[in-house]
Amino acid sequence: MDVHVADHPLIAHKLTYLRDKRTDSPTFRRLADELVTLLAYEATREVRTEPFEIETPVAATTGIKLANPKPIIVPILRAGLGMLEGMVRLLPSAEVGFLGMIRDEQTLQVSAYANRLPEDLNGRQVFVLDPMLATGNTLVMAIDYLRTKGARDITCVCLLAAPEGIKHVESEMTDSDIPVKIVVGTIDERLNEKGYIVPGLGDAGDRLYG
Ligand code: PRP
Repeated sequence: MDVHVADHPLIAHKLTYLRDKRTDSPTFRRLADELVTLLAYEATREVRTEPFEIETPVAATTGIKLANPKPIIVPILRAGLGMLEGMVRLLPSAEVGFLGMIRDEQTLQVSAYANRLPEDLNGRQVFVLDPMLATGNTLVMAIDYLRTKGARDITCVCLLAAPEGIKHVESEMTDSDIPVKIVVGTIDERLNEKGYIVPGLGDAGDRLYG
């Protein structure tokens, strides 16, 4: 599994304000939106393109455009919705699917309560959006589900991760010949006994949507 940790002062700066408990919901939403735009730069590095002929006012030239089939963006509800607009802005022709998942705060086990995805993801580049990678249970279930639908090219974009969660996803992926990439703003110190990322930013869903 390929894990890319963004190392950029603008990302660190925005994450600092995102973490701050004094940051209100409107500001939190704006920061999450700006952060996904910055992380998307790395996440889309291998997005598939095809040549595209154009003429400038001076000469004919060959550029590129996104190849078909177009990528699909999959936010994990609810907190992943806070990252959707920023990603769609960069990939306006991408399709959008949804996965609804909730973590039981006592057992930390995850259950899926909704999904709206194309039947067949074979040949599609899939970008999964979820701000928090804590135990990794959510992402493991999401990746498994996408694979059952034929996805073979999955990139996950997260704002924050715990080292334990990254290890968990990695350990679930070792048997697989299907590459998964994670692009994350930063990897924090640890998970606490309640399954929260430390220092983290609290509950992203609550901070986005109350
Ligand atoms: C949070 C978060 C991730 C998940 C991460 O969602 O947005 O989806 O927990 O935890 P994990 O790595 O331990 O599985 P939550 O279940 O709180 O739902 P919400 O987004 O609707 O608030």
